[in-house]
Amino acid sequence: MSMKLLRGRVLDFVAEPQGIDDTDSYRYFEDGAVLIEGGKIIACGAYGDVKPAGVNCEIIDHRPQLIMPGLIDPHIHFVQMQVVASYAANLLEWLNTYTFVEEQKFVDLAHGLAIASEFFDTLIRYGTTTAVAYCSVHKASAEAFFTEAEKRNMLMIGGKCMMNRNCPEALQDTPQSGYDDTKALLEKWDGRGRNIYAITPRFALSSTREQMDMVRALINEFPDAYVQTHLSENDKEIATTLDLYPEHQDYLAIYEHYGFLGPKSLFGHAIYLSDRELGVMAETKSVAISCPTSNVFLGSGLFDRDKNKAAGVRIGIATDIGGGTSFSMLKTLDSFYKVQQLKGNRIDPITSFYMMTLGNAEALSLSDKIGTLAVGSDADIVVLDASSTPEMALRLEIVSSLAEELFLLQTLGDDRAVVETYVAGVAMKSELGD
Ligand code: GUN
Ligand code: ZN
Repeated sequence: MSMKLLRGRVLDFVAEPQGIDDTDSYRYFEDGAVLIEGGKIIACGAYGDVKPAGVNCEIIDHRPQLIMPGLIDPHIHFVQMQVVASYAANLLEWLNTYTFVEEQKFVDLAHGLAIASEFFDTLIRYGTTTAVAYCSVHKASAEAFFTEAEKRNMLMIGGKCMMNRNCPEALQDTPQSGYDDTKALLEKWDGRGRNIYAITPRFALSSTREQMDMVRALINEFPDAYVQTHLSENDKEIATTLDLYPEHQDYLAIYEHYGFLGPKSLFGHAIYLSDRELGVMAETKSVAISCPTSNVFLGSGLFDRDKNKAAGVRIGIATDIGGGTSFSMLKTLDSFYKVQQLKGNRIDPITSFYMMTLGNAEALSLSDKIGTLAVGSDADIVVLDASSTPEMALRLEIVSSLAEELFLLQTLGDDRAVVETYVAGVAMKSELGD
């Protein structure tokens, strides 16, 4: 098997940073290298230590760029690529006016395949190598998603939405068909290649109790499966949900009742949690996924990182396209930073970059495979350039530390800062030819 050596400035994380000066939380090699064989990382460190002697090895010189683990986006709707930038007053109006209209098109497999192809190419352009995606209610949309992911050999998690009320009839499954389709998709795709299936009840508002019972049955049948849903995103959504489930004391209690909580359960947004809910999230090791560009765009609210951390809640950070406004995880960090500023919290750039790599991998319980450049990891890698625009280059001239460079990347960077994206050791961005 042939080897490939990427040379450049190498950065990855080994632990959650405890602040901007926590140099123990990361590895940084000024003249570093990552050695790849068979889609896996077999060595990482100083170039002189990693370069194999006397072996045939392709060397790709990325100096002076930054080589990092591929970016991870743990909450995104692949069926909303054509919903991004839709003008609405709030979440429920946005869903009813644009999103539920657009998602109906995914009954057609050909449409799903075309959008899925665009979707994965876009992720590659933005340096995202793993995402956790919502498909539409249609089985065909999940088929399209996994078919295109498999073609690119990307590690993807996804699932068809289960939803049977408070949306157009064309977007409704039934408790039985939602169960049957989910089970069939899970049995077909989960663990096939790098694909992973997530049981995906959209949110409590769009499922009847009968459907929630069926979700519980699936979770019991497939206890190792991921579960993804939305939680406590917007005031009207919360009020409507509590009206629909008056027997439960708060939003999270609904999901608790139906057995949704656990270490592989991902709750999008989770903005307005009470102390009780935070406590239960922490106790069950459930994950809150913050989606800052979406929360600001839809006027949903401001996620409080410090409050969640203090309660011991596991946190991920994501784009939430199409409520979110950028596919860029760099822009997502920028938005998260600004939201935390408004909450009176500080988030330093070392911690931010941890969040979109190892942090999100830990949130997905996948840090043994992705999110770092550790030996044995999948060779999903991004190469970043902090001088990708003239104004960034100008600003970079007076940057004097790694933390400053990362902050510049997160504040001004976007897809132009992504020089290359490797998926399982294969250069993919340059192959797109644009
Ligand atoms: N809640 C239920 N569905 C959605 C969705 O598609 N986007 C967002 N942001 N919130 C939701
Ligand atoms: Zn969402």
